[in-house]
Amino acid sequence: MGDWKGRDVLNILDFTRDELEELFDLASEYKRALEAGRVTRVLEGRIIALAFFEPSTRTRMSFETAAKRLGAATVGFTKGEGTSIEKGESLADTVRMLDAYADLIVIRSRYEGSALLAAEVAEHPVVNGGDGKQHHPTQAMIDFYTVKELFGSPDGLTYAVVGDLRYGRAASSFLYGLTRFRPERVFLVSPPQLRARPEVLLALMDSGVEYSEADLETAVEEADVVYVTRIQKERFPDPAEYEKVKGSYRITRRLLESRAKKGLKVLHPLPRVDEITYDVDSTEWQAYFIQAANGVPVRMALLTLILGGDGV
Ligand code: CP
Repeated sequence: MGDWKGRDVLNILDFTRDELEELFDLASEYKRALEAGRVTRVLEGRIIALAFFEPSTRTRMSFETAAKRLGAATVGFTKGEGTSIEKGESLADTVRMLDAYADLIVIRSRYEGSALLAAEVAEHPVVNGGDGKQHHPTQAMIDFYTVKELFGSPDGLTYAVVGDLRYGRAASSFLYGLTRFRPERVFLVSPPQLRARPEVLLALMDSGVEYSEADLETAVEEADVVYVTRIQKERFPDPAEYEKVKGSYRITRRLLESRAKKGLKVLHPLPRVDEITYDVDSTEWQAYFIQAANGVPVRMALLTLILGGDGV
């Protein structure tokens, strides 16, 4: 058993494969319980703070749903609105207050290192719900849980990671997460300006993950899993640079019909803009809505392990 109790979740690289497998096992139990309509209130009386300084649909709401399914209550804010941050209060002071009120803090911010700062200030555990372009560890947990559910294991598969590999924190955390498994091969597909950052490539190299850059068609032809990400418009220092790369790749039903091998699955952390066309949604390749729904049981498992609930 991993040492989960009271732990911060800042970076997927902080977790071993065994710990991730333990999380996935409990998430599967919770998924079965949810499907059977069984109620489990192991976090009754606990309070989870959701401090979202950036917009979110899935991360915020699935944490909120997970907490409430487990009997916990939530407090929090979106984009800092209605809080004293609008009066100039610092992140550190805001976190100190949440730490006084809640048992666990989930934080999302555009600033890299904000979750780390929060973890240094808070005595209660801090979960990184996304910090700038850097990390989105709970998204990677959901991604690999979904791959395991679809294929039996993340090992031995060929992955194509497509899109904004430079500014996309979900893509970076997915690539970091691959180092915890044994992928057959990884194809990186992005416009030249949006290639994976050196530190991410170094992590792949250090753990012996075989990767290469590829064009979209070749990658789709070879892949078992196509992990697509949005170009992160909001993180470009210069809007003109975004204009040069927007819409530069697109997964369409036609592309999949002509290139995909049997059993290929398309994942996407969402939200999507135009990088997967809507005609893919009703095909056998679509797995991104399953992935998004898995956010609830995976985050239920995470909250239980960190806060020391007994499980299902
Ligand atoms: N995948 C993800 O982080 O989605 P949200 O931005 O909606 O939370």
